[in-house]
Amino acid sequence: MTFRIACHTRPELPAIQALYAASPLRRPVDDEPRLTRMFDAANVIHSAWAGDRLVGLLRGWTDGAFDGYLCDLAVHPDFQKSGVGRALMDPLFTEYPQVRWVLLASPLAEGYYGHVGWKPLENAWVKSHPDCVPMPGYAEYQARVAHLAAKA
Ligand SMILES: CC(C)(COP(=O)(O)OP(=O)(O)OC[C@H]1O[C@@H](n2cnc3c(N)ncnc32)[C@H](O)[C@@H]1OP(=O)(O)O)[C@@H](O)C(=O)NCCC(=O)NCCS
Repeated sequence: MTFRIACHTRPELPAIQALYAASPLRRPVDDEPRLTRMFDAANVIHSAWAGDRLVGLLRGWTDGAFDGYLCDLAVHPDFQKSGVGRALMDPLFTEYPQVRWVLLASPLAEGYYGHVGWKPLENAWVKSHPDCVPMPGYAEYQARVAHLAAKA
């Protein structure tokens, strides 16, 4: 599979919606204002392209000096296991050599991050408002966003 990586260009919202729905990556792709805020606030966006087709995307935040959070990593199923995910992450470490990156792995990627060199944390904690809507199950998410996935 041939692809190219672009750093710090933001794909159009419909392409992001379609890619996340198809991957699948459980993000609020059917809530455009919320998805827009997610990308407005991100200062690290790496994308993978096959021609003009968006086939992979990484979204993250960093202060550039110490902390970094890898928020999203999604690769279209047609391109999975072709090195796209690794190629999207590689620039994190070369561009920001002083940053320690952390992430929350999805159930689908449980074995992935260890395989590509990440170390598990034993001291990670998470807290949110009691009304914060929990992550949907995959079956519910995929049914809800099937119309978007079809466009990826
Ligand atoms: C997880 C995901 C990002 C991986 O991206 P990818 O482009 O398919 O992975 P790569 O091609 O970079 O794989 C690199 C290596 O990891 C392996 N690998 C890929 N997916 C794996 C998985 N789920 N579990 C274990 N190993 C995996 C590959 O076989 C490859 O191994 P090799 O170097 O020994 O040949 C992609 O499958 C995906 O988008 N999944 C759905 C969305 C998701 O869950 N994202 C993660 C959010 S935290």
